[in-house]
Amino acid sequence: MMSQDDLKRAVAIAAIEYVPADCIVGVGTGSTANFFIDELAKIKNRIRGAVASSEASASRLRGHGIEVLSLNEAGGLQVYVDGADEITHHLHMIKGGGGALTREKIVAGASRQFICLCDASKLVDMLGKFPLPVEVIPMAKSSVARQLVALGGQPVLREGFTTDNGNVILDVHGLKILNPVELESALDHIAGIVTNGLFARRPADVLLLSTAEGVRKMTA
Ligand code: 5RP
Repeated sequence: MMSQDDLKRAVAIAAIEYVPADCIVGVGTGSTANFFIDELAKIKNRIRGAVASSEASASRLRGHGIEVLSLNEAGGLQVYVDGADEITHHLHMIKGGGGALTREKIVAGASRQFICLCDASKLVDMLGKFPLPVEVIPMAKSSVARQLVALGGQPVLREGFTTDNGNVILDVHGLKILNPVELESALDHIAGIVTNGLFARRPADVLLLSTAEGVRKMTA
């Protein structure tokens, strides 16, 4: 039987063919992204470098001898490769389980193609079983939490966690997200929320789904 790690490695290997020669690759965060970084190391002479969506990914990339550039240095990217916590058939996602959602949304937004790597357990009909991460400016924690309750969620502070940007995360439980594009925009209008973990206005372009039978390619 394939382990979860085997599935993640298989999908990371499959993602390499989406990396054009001589490009700067946008790299996500998390355990699946880590497998992708390890595969990227094997072709590092074919790429110019990477833009990382977190300090953790940046140090793993550097550890492999891959040059890490800032997004400002790199400019627009051809491809961004990352995992997700949940994804639908429309390739709308919940991300931010690792707390890197803000930089992930920035780098994804600067990339022509978003390749999402998941195992089959993350494919859902409706988003929201996985608590929605929301990055919040610390002084706005309580007021944002009250507004999230008014929207029907149960926000829980991620204890002992500070983002790369110096902010806190509220994980919002109990949401049944029927319209992710609408909720993403509504949350963006709450003062004090830096980023919410819905990636729906800019969904993934390609989902590589790892199953025991192999890697399946899906597009919206
Ligand atoms: C980090 C993320 C990750 O992509 C998400 O949490 C999935 O992680 P993993 O590959 O470890 O399951 O959004 O902020």
